[in-house]
Amino acid sequence: MVEAILTGFMGSGKTTIGKLLARTAHCTHLDLDDLIVKYAKKTINQLFAEQGEKYFRDLETELLVKVLEQPGILSTGGGTIGSVQNRQLLEKNTAPVIYLKTSLDSVICRLHGDNTRPLFQSYAAFFTLYQRRMYAYEQSADFTIITDNKSPARIAEEIQSLL
Ligand code: S3P
Repeated sequence: MVEAILTGFMGSGKTTIGKLLARTAHCTHLDLDDLIVKYAKKTINQLFAEQGEKYFRDLETELLVKVLEQPGILSTGGGTIGSVQNRQLLEKNTAPVIYLKTSLDSVICRLHGDNTRPLFQSYAAFFTLYQRRMYAYEQSADFTIITDNKSPARIAEEIQSLL
């Protein structure tokens, strides 16, 4: 079973913090996006463009089920909490769900120039997605950590103090 699950919007630091936590705890870092890419042998951009978002989401759920059984610290994708099914999977799992809460301004700043995220296109659409997901992040979280203006090391320390 995973030991902790990180959630949050794109650019909230789920992968960076997950790696740090895993290194400190001497355990495996599990990254759901990486698993999808390895399994499909395609980038996320390719998956969205060639197979569509639904295909990506189905794969995300399928691999989420499997990865939740593995030991380690799990970094989810920003949209993993988007479906009821995925939220129920997280809820049923005993590992704490840690929401990395990051302001829209910080997220936009961090993702400036990024072209690896198919859903980071127009600012208007990004804003709508952010607003739409906030509630789901809050609801599915056992702990919420505000990440704005904090270094990855400090965020990881805060999380360690909770685990
Ligand atoms: C997505 C977030 C991405 C990735 C995909 C979809 C989303 O993960 O799963 O591009 O819907 O928010 P990150 O949050 O790691 O960027």
